[in-house]
Amino acid sequence: MLILGIETSCDETAAAIVKNGKTVLSSVVSSSEKLHQKYGGIVPEIAARKHAETIIPVIDLCLKNAGKKLQEIDYLAVSTTPGLIGGLLVGIEVTRSLSFALQKPIISINDLESHIYAAFLNKDIDEIKWPLLGLMVSGGTTALLFFKKSFGKFNIVGQTRDDSAGEVFDKVARLLDLGYPGGPAIQGLATLGDNKRYKLPYPLLRSKTNDFSFSGLKTAVLSIVKKENGIDEESLAASFQEVITEVLIQKTIKAALQFGAGTFAIGGGVAANTLLREKCGNYAGINNLDFFAPSIDFCTDNAAMVAGCAYIYAKNKIFSHWNELKPFEHKNLKNETCKY
Ligand code: KG4
Repeated sequence: MLILGIETSCDETAAAIVKNGKTVLSSVVSSSEKLHQKYGGIVPEIAARKHAETIIPVIDLCLKNAGKKLQEIDYLAVSTTPGLIGGLLVGIEVTRSLSFALQKPIISINDLESHIYAAFLNKDIDEIKWPLLGLMVSGGTTALLFFKKSFGKFNIVGQTRDDSAGEVFDKVARLLDLGYPGGPAIQGLATLGDNKRYKLPYPLLRSKTNDFSFSGLKTAVLSIVKKENGIDEESLAASFQEVITEVLIQKTIKAALQFGAGTFAIGGGVAANTLLREKCGNYAGINNLDFFAPSIDFCTDNAAMVAGCAYIYAKNKIFSHWNELKPFEHKNLKNETCKY
């Protein structure tokens, strides 16, 4: 079964063709990241305009790279929530038009779920020990997704109460004048620093809740930058990275054990963080959990995860008609609904 996936929820315009939910035949991503650099974060209007310009060439290249024609595609899949409305609309309108013209069914995909599915691309999902707990950590979201016995159905069992982890990486990077995106810049600088040099709070680490809160951590970094003359930037980046990754992994493991998970997985841009990936591997071993992470290419937004995840829906014959598709921003993730 061949699925063409389309993803435009943030600043990446992406298309991919995936066979049977597993084998990525082609994946093309065009990012407008550079256009946002001078603003220190994504400007939704600029991102949406760039999607509109880029989406058709991206789909063309994706088909060419896979050596496929549109008529050979069985189903179309598109991210519809959560994301920036202007961007989602571009992906939805293109998918709607393709569906109408080609008479192919559409699968509407939740961006959070597909980011977790990314950890299983090119792998065997039949080997997952359910339940699965997914930590989705991107610039827009930090959430824990609980999947009882399959993809296609999940509950949000924890989420950030304020900033997302990626947003805090970006804001701390801005405080240190490192530019956007902040995650890779902080990671690079941190390799040169002492991660114990600055004492920072571990937000909600000892609390019973599975929610996260990162705005206090950002403020703690800000007050160090304001108070100290000649700060040791490398060590501040290292101390910050140590704290945020430790909170993410410890809270994920706690929730995984609480919900009886056999496996946990990470997804989203922050899942590319080397220290976080290392900690996940170590904690998984200690707690006897299976752990999966996407390849680095599939951490940030891409359409392979969309086309891959859509296979589960296609197998269960869950489709959306072209005239029912709608984008959703969903500020409160607890409103994310299960599909079937
Ligand atoms: O998933 P993504 O591409 O976009 C959405 O937010 O949807 O994630 C982008 C985020 C940015 O905040 C970026 O700083 C962060 O992922 N990021 C990282 C790393 N690479 C990207 N954060 C920490 N360490 C990294 N290596």
